[in-house]
Amino acid sequence: MLLFQPLLAITISVIGCLAADQDILTILRQQNGISTFTGFLEQLPDVVEILNGGIFSVLIPNDDAFSALDKDFPEDDEELLALIQYHIANGTHPSATFGLEPLFVPTLLSNSNYTNVTGGQVVEMAKFNDTPTILTGIKAESRVVEADIFFIGGLIHIVDSVFTIPISLPATITKAGLNNLVALLNKGGFLNPSSPAASIVNSLSDLTVFGPDDPRFGPTFEGWDGLSEADLLSIFQYSIAQGEVYYSSKFKNDTKIMTLNQTPLTMTESANDVFVDAAQITTRDYIVSNGVLQIINSPLDPNNTNARPVITPENSSGSGSKGLSAAAGAGIGIAIGAILLGGALTIALYIRNKRRRRTRGPQGIRGVHDRLDGESQEVIDPPPTYELDTKSIRGGRTVAATTHHVIEVHHPPKPPSPLEIDGTERSRISITITGSPPRHLGFQARYD
Ligand SMILES: *[C@@H]1O[C@H](CO)[C@@H](O)[C@H](O)[C@H]1NC(C)=O
Ligand SMILES: *[C@@H]1O[C@H](CO)[C@@H](O)[C@H](O)[C@H]1NC(C)=O
Ligand SMILES: *[C@@H]1O[C@H](CO)[C@@H](O)[C@H](O)[C@H]1NC(C)=O
Ligand SMILES: *[C@@H]1O[C@H](CO)[C@@H](O)[C@H](O)[C@H]1NC(C)=O
Ligand SMILES: *[C@@H]1O[C@H](CO)[C@@H](O)[C@H](O)[C@H]1NC(C)=O
Ligand SMILES: *[C@@H]1O[C@H](CO)[C@@H](O)[C@H](O)[C@H]1NC(C)=O
Repeated sequence: MLLFQPLLAITISVIGCLAADQDILTILRQQNGISTFTGFLEQLPDVVEILNGGIFSVLIPNDDAFSALDKDFPEDDEELLALIQYHIANGTHPSATFGLEPLFVPTLLSNSNYTNVTGGQVVEMAKFNDTPTILTGIKAESRVVEADIFFIGGLIHIVDSVFTIPISLPATITKAGLNNLVALLNKGGFLNPSSPAASIVNSLSDLTVFGPDDPRFGPTFEGWDGLSEADLLSIFQYSIAQGEVYYSSKFKNDTKIMTLNQTPLTMTESANDVFVDAAQITTRDYIVSNGVLQIINSPLDPNNTNARPVITPENSSGSGSKGLSAAAGAGIGIAIGAILLGGALTIALYIRNKRRRRTRGPQGIRGVHDRLDGESQEVIDPPPTYELDTKSIRGGRTVAATTHHVIEVHHPPKPPSPLEIDGTERSRISITITGSPPRHLGFQARYD
């Protein structure tokens, strides 16, 4: 502890403080390295207006991401608009909430030339190797490189690659290299452009497709030999649901999923795995233009709708608890301050160090992050106390008087588990806020 203390200096970055009441373009122009996206957005005043008026997470590829595109972009105005729309996700999603559970968030992209998903095409927000990551078409990964920048309509995450707008199901299967599935579809005659299968996957909205990709059911599979076209089509239709799209966030034990064959599949969840009928879901969530593709390990059988997985104690007693891990739980505790619970109410925060009042002008650091650096000794022992003033802002106007809160920042002597607001290991702190619940706390706390 003694070794630790002098090294630690707490920095509270009050992101919401000054930023939360500023419009998106003002905030973006203050950031380095994202001028390409900012330039595109400047050409789209309608989108800017939507952003400032709503509650969004804007996912912004940096300039390097745009330079890395291997084609000239954009080809035309429609493509530009579609791509920008696909980078704007509904609701505020602080980076600390990524990866706690599967999260598929609709975007503004609903242009029928690109997507046929009710409510808008989705992005997946996840976490890989502790890095908040966004997955898009063909499981393209964009890592968040700078998280949780607030503006009046929500928050911004800067990412390291441009999203891939999800493409059609057949194109996804091919590009993802799901060769056993391609072979199996070919055996069923489903790849024939005149097959009803082709029009199903290309023209219907909101599909969930369970596609087997397994060497046992690839080029050498003979189990379908001799089946009539009608039988083959019934297998195909029994593998597809239309309506609610079953992303992995919707997986739930005992769910009945009505298929195009008019008989339902049954979902079963064991400790570690999810099954539809007896088939295990082996790869989750290829987002496609009109829904999602879930990969399973054997074909579904419309003649055996009662098939269920055999779950032995061996493979069901795994440690893969569905509950949140302790670290994830801590993440929630910390993130709670940054979660917008809905409504147009935004509360901007002002945090000052009570004992060593350091006043930085309203400009703060470039007007975005208002930093408060405490010296280690003073900050660590006894626990520092901060005064937190909140004020409510609606549409840029202050609607309520400033409210005053006192916050104590606690931290254990030795950080027992990381605080992962931005994917980097941090010491744990806990912040207790009293008073009526603020709706939107734009802050991050970190040890520097
Ligand atoms: C967007 O999020 C809001 C809540 O933040 C919700 O009420 C609304 O239904 C969402 N819209 C879509 C299309 O998901
Ligand atoms: C879809 O594409 C066609 C042909 O390029 C174009 O005429 C049409 O306006 C587009 N639709 C939308 C909604 O942008
Ligand atoms: C989208 O889906 C609907 C209903 O499933 C269908 O009628 C429509 O033609 C589809 N649109 C496109 C562009 O495929
Ligand atoms: C289902 O069973 C019927 C009757 O036995 C059979 O004719 C049909 O080929 C079977 N269908 C499939 C897809 O196996
Ligand atoms: C899933 O549902 C089945 C049938 O209701 C039940 O036997 C099983 O215990 C459930 N599994 C879990 C993990 O809840
Ligand atoms: C569980 O493991 C056994 C062999 O260890 C295997 O035969 C069985 O198919 C497995 N069940 C599931 C549901 O994976």
